[in-house]
Amino acid sequence: MALKVIKAVKLRIHHNAENASRELVGEILQLRNALAPSARQSGKAFPLCLGFATGSSMLPIYAQMREFLGPELAGVGGFNLDEFFPQQDANNFSFANFMRQQFPEADHPAKLPGFSGAKNEVANFCQSFEDEIVKLGGIDLQLLGIGINGHIGFNEPGSEQLSQTRLVNLSESTLQANPDFSTMAITQGIATILNARRIRICAFGEHKAEAVATAIEGPVSVDCPASFLQQHRDVIWFLDKASASRLTSK
Ligand code: GLP
Repeated sequence: MALKVIKAVKLRIHHNAENASRELVGEILQLRNALAPSARQSGKAFPLCLGFATGSSMLPIYAQMREFLGPELAGVGGFNLDEFFPQQDANNFSFANFMRQQFPEADHPAKLPGFSGAKNEVANFCQSFEDEIVKLGGIDLQLLGIGINGHIGFNEPGSEQLSQTRLVNLSESTLQANPDFSTMAITQGIATILNARRIRICAFGEHKAEAVATAIEGPVSVDCPASFLQQHRDVIWFLDKASASRLTSK
């Protein structure tokens, strides 16, 4: 059966990552302000529910979010995208610690950190994570980076479109990029990501150019998990010139 493709890809190709981040954070601020009145009326804990990615691509974005939303992320809460498993302790690197360092005063109501249970508890944890997203009304805007092998979150090549939050083995290329960390991770699934109302994916630098071109112009395939984004109605790719350099149809 052929996969249904919604070819509504939008690209923002900027001179550099800072300019791209400025546009993206501008959109986040506007969205938070637009959602504020209905959040007040319905008693929601915060107007804007984000999905938070990690990695160097997110650093200029989070720097601007600190500037405009403050270290407490005023009016914004959300869910982390992924985490190494087992989670490193407080002194070591983990995505939970990465997020705490980015927003030291933020008090996210729900997210991956805090999970340090045994392997046989992971499935329950993942299900409650999915339930929590639904309970909070879903993710308004999911931030994503892309791995050089086309992964999103830790959905490595081979990940299915219907996958949900789960424990995964990391691929060879991811392990090479993160040699000092675990060989497993918990990640939101492809289906979890595609359920977000908006997806904003960032890639900066020549080393991302091939993955970007495959994800945007290649077939929708488990070989490039980011290609599943072609099936979402509201995705915007934020690129710099280098990461966009292998696109043929700019
Ligand atoms: C890790 C994360 C991904 C992220 C990717 C790219 O693998 N699990 O969510 O997109 O790194 O990171 P960077 O932006 O540092 O290239």
